[in-house]
Amino acid sequence: MKPKLTFVNNKLESIKKKNLYREIRFGQVNRAIINIKNKKLVNFCSNDYLGISISDTISRQMQSSSRLVGGNDISFQILEKKLAKHKSQESSLVFPTGYMANVGVISTIIEKKDLILSDELNHASIIEACKLTGAKISIYKHNDINDLSSKLNQHHKRKFVISEGIFSMDGDYANLKEIVEIAEKKDAIIILDDAHGDFTVGEDGKGTPNHFGVTKKIDLYVSSLSKGLGSFGGYVATQKNIIEFLINRSKSFIYTSALPSFLVEYSLKKLNSDREKQRKKLWKNVELLSSGLKQIGYDFDSSTHIIPLIIGNEKTALEFGKYLFKKGVYALPIRYPTVPKNKARIRISVTAWLTKKHIENALKVFELSAKKFGII
Ligand SMILES: Cc1ncc(COP(=O)(O)O)c(C=O)c1O
Repeated sequence: MKPKLTFVNNKLESIKKKNLYREIRFGQVNRAIINIKNKKLVNFCSNDYLGISISDTISRQMQSSSRLVGGNDISFQILEKKLAKHKSQESSLVFPTGYMANVGVISTIIEKKDLILSDELNHASIIEACKLTGAKISIYKHNDINDLSSKLNQHHKRKFVISEGIFSMDGDYANLKEIVEIAEKKDAIIILDDAHGDFTVGEDGKGTPNHFGVTKKIDLYVSSLSKGLGSFGGYVATQKNIIEFLINRSKSFIYTSALPSFLVEYSLKKLNSDREKQRKKLWKNVELLSSGLKQIGYDFDSSTHIIPLIIGNEKTALEFGKYLFKKGVYALPIRYPTVPKNKARIRISVTAWLTKKHIENALKVFELSAKKFGII
């Protein structure tokens, strides 16, 4: 266990002493009966008031309650074990969404007296979560290690560095090697939101830290199951004691309904499937589209499946988007407040679904639009 994360143990001890410790039980719901550890019990913990959560098309019944009450389907246990392994961490915890995972993790682990170093381009869920902590928030310039380093010199008992792995609106990688180095030097805890790198980059899609060879250096991974895995949900992978603490304290885990078991099973199915062919196709498509766009004259820093075509002005970006739409290309303009003012852009996300023909045709449209709007 990392010494800088042992503070959670005292908190867990205190929860236990007060008889307030919570544990999740894994069960299987079948109408009015819940099966927990091979014991069939009459279920008085469901919120499926009308008894209609069973479906003809979905093989399993929805659990219709919080995971700490009666909603903890056995499939969570299997999925969480696999996700922990996928991230080379001790344990993991599934949340209903990636947004809720960020809110749940950040607002539970970080306290008022702590210092947060947050990249200026971090996702809205991170920003909202940071506000909930009441801690001092120090925003560092995007991917700027010097700025991060100097801001880490502030004296605080605990310091947290929060970054995305691949930035959602710019498609660039975090300078993770340098972030890890500086965080280690200044004894800061790293929370990484790898929603866009998970399942897409690194060996077997293990994510951005694997891509940079710093897997063991990340303290808390947050990710989404709704992007690279093509399923739904969010999760955190970290040390066992942190997961225990989240189960006991994280409001977006405790006070909400569990993810339906058919979605958990769907994630498991995807996780167990061979995704390498699709990943190869994705990167082939990224290469084809990126090189084509660069040849046209577009300038961008991204080397990933998220490609921003920076337009600048919001009005032009809107018109650009409309033009693409008219020509059969669906790539939307992203404007303030999602991105800074005058940094409006067309955000392209590449998928393995695209064929060579799709990309070639789109490139023709991107060339026409670049000339029409004077972007190149
Ligand atoms: C960086 C980042 N983090 C978290 C999320 C939220 O994930 P989810 O869609 O599973 O709530 C997103 C999705 O937009 C994202 O881009």
